[in-house]
Amino acid sequence: MYVCLCNAVSDTAIRNAVKTLQPKTFHELKNAIPIANKCGKCACKARLIMEDELQHSVMYKNIA
Ligand code: FES
Repeated sequence: MYVCLCNAVSDTAIRNAVKTLQPKTFHELKNAIPIANKCGKCACKARLIMEDELQHSVMYKNIA
């Protein structure tokens, strides 16, 4: 599903970027992939996806 229509960035692309880059802030994620840089309507959803993926990443780290 596309989250950012302006840049055609999907939720999967955001999740993959978060898994790979482990951004500490939404600003870091925005610097890595083209989201929320035009109309900005995707910012809230993209931030929620980032936070959800980071929580899961922490869970994986705790298991390992
Ligand atoms: S929908 Fe993401 S910048 Fe417009």
